[in-house]
Amino acid sequence: MGPEFRDRDIISITDFSRDEILHLCEAGRRMQELEKTEKRNSLRDALKHRTLSYMFYEPSTRTRTSFNTGMRELGGRYDGFSGTEGTSVMKSETVRDTVTMMCANHNDVIVMRHPLDGSLQWAADVANIPVINGGDGKNEHPTQALLDLLTIYALKDGKLDGIRVGFGGDLSHGRTVRSLSLALSHFDNVTILWAAEDFLGMPEDLTALLAAQGVTVVREDSVRGVMRHVDFYYMTRPQLERMPGVTQKDIIAMMGQYRIDEEKVRGFDVRVLHPLPVNSEIAEIDYRVYFTPAQAFFTQAEFGIFLRKALLHEMLGHDGYRRYDSRLPAELGRGNNRVPRQIRGTKESGMFIDKIHDGTVIDHLAPGSLRAVSDALDLENRGYSCTTAVITEKKNPFIKTSLAELSERDLKKIALISPEPTIDVIAGGSIREKYVYLLCANGNCITRVINEDVPPRFYNDGGAMRCRYCRRPYSISHRKVSAEEKAAFTGSLPRTIEAVPYPD
Ligand code: NCD
Repeated sequence: MGPEFRDRDIISITDFSRDEILHLCEAGRRMQELEKTEKRNSLRDALKHRTLSYMFYEPSTRTRTSFNTGMRELGGRYDGFSGTEGTSVMKSETVRDTVTMMCANHNDVIVMRHPLDGSLQWAADVANIPVINGGDGKNEHPTQALLDLLTIYALKDGKLDGIRVGFGGDLSHGRTVRSLSLALSHFDNVTILWAAEDFLGMPEDLTALLAAQGVTVVREDSVRGVMRHVDFYYMTRPQLERMPGVTQKDIIAMMGQYRIDEEKVRGFDVRVLHPLPVNSEIAEIDYRVYFTPAQAFFTQAEFGIFLRKALLHEMLGHDGYRRYDSRLPAELGRGNNRVPRQIRGTKESGMFIDKIHDGTVIDHLAPGSLRAVSDALDLENRGYSCTTAVITEKKNPFIKTSLAELSERDLKKIALISPEPTIDVIAGGSIREKYVYLLCANGNCITRVINEDVPPRFYNDGGAMRCRYCRRPYSISHRKVSAEEKAAFTGSLPRTIEAVPYPD
C-alpha cells in the first residue's frame, strides 16, 4: 500500500515523509499529463458531490483559485469567503465558530488562510473534516512547498536528491521559504544558498532546523554568488504587511542589490522560481527577466493546479462521509500548559498581608508588572477582592484575590504581561494547587490572542518542548521550577501532535 492521504489534515510540510512527497509529485505529474492530452476530462466525475470550503482571511489569488480549479476539474464544487469583509468575522466571530459553521454547512474539506501562526492546527482540531493549510501567518504554506517541489521534480526529470536551491528576497517574514526549505530537507545532499540583508535573512531557528536535518545552508554576499552554484533561484516578495513601521522606501533600499534583473541571471543555467505575487513597486524580479529562459514561475503556478488537484483527489476520492455533530470535543476547552509545583506548607498564602481563606495568589510576577496585571484583571469591578503586594526582600510582586478560579482568559492576560506566573489556589486557608502557567512566546501565535480562546498546548518533540499550534520551541525559564519539575512536566507531554478525537 502506498501513502494514504484519505481525510488527512495538511498542516505542516514536516508531517510528510519523503515517500509521501514523491508520491504526490508523481500524482501531480499524472494530472499534468492528463491535462495536456485529449483525456483531460477523464476525472471530471471523480469528486462529484464533494464540496470544498475556502476560508481566506488574507488576500490570495493563486492558492484559492487553484484549489477551486482543482475541484471544478474533478467535478466537485466550492464555496466560501475571500477576505473577511461581508462575513461575521467583522462581528468578532472566532476561528473556532467560523470553522464549525463550515462543517455544519456539510462541506467535505476546508482550505484556510489566516494571519496568525498556528491557526490552521487549531482549525483542524475544531473541524470534523480535513483541513488544508493555505498559509498561516509567517509559519507554513505546505501545499506551496509541495507545488514548488513538483516544479523542481518535473523540470529536473524526477530528481530531488543533490538539488541546489538559492533563496532571495524576504526569507524572514514569509512562510514559503520556511515550508520549501523544510520540504527540501527530506532529500539527500541538498544545498541551500542565500543572499539578503540581515533584516530579511534566513531566521536562525530555521537554519538550525535545516542543519539538524543535514541540509547545507550557505550565506553568500551577492545574488550572482548564489546563482553561480544553483539550479533554481527561489525569489520571494518582501512581506511588508508583516513589518510594522517599515516603509516601502526602506525595503526598496534594502532590496537594492538583491533584486533579480537580466544582468544577475546572464551566463547561468538557472531557473527563477517565485511563489508570486511579485510586488510591482519593489519589482524584486525586473520585468525583463520575464522574457528570458530563466523565467519558470508561471510554469510553477500551473503546477499548483496539478499538485492541488492530485492532493484533493487523494484526500476525497472515496465514498466515506464525515457526519457533522454540533458537540465540540471537551479537549478544545483546556490546555496542557500548567506545570505542577510542589506545595510547601501554607505560609505563602498568609505572608505579610491578610491570609485569605478561599481564593487565588498570583505569584512571582515580573518586577514592575503589578499595576498592568491588576488593571488587566479588573478584579474589584468584577466583585472580587484584589490585594497587591510588593515586598522588597521578595523581588517578585504578587496579587491575592478572592476569585477562586481564574479563567483561561484571565491567565492569558497575566501571562501576556508577566510570563510564567505562579498560581496558588487557596481553599480552606491552605494551598490546594500550585502551578506555573505557560504561554507560547511567539508573538504571532494564535494561542496568545485572548478572544480566540485557544488553550495553550505543548508537545515533547524528542525532549524539546514545542507549541502544538505554531510549533515554535519553548523552554521553561521560571527560576523556581526545579529541574525535576521541568523533567516531569516535559515527560508528561504527548510525543506528537495527536489528533483531537471528534465526538462519535
Ligand atoms: C504567497 C503567500 O501568500 O504565502 N503566495 C502564494 O500563496 N503563492 C507568497 C506571498 O504572498 O508573497
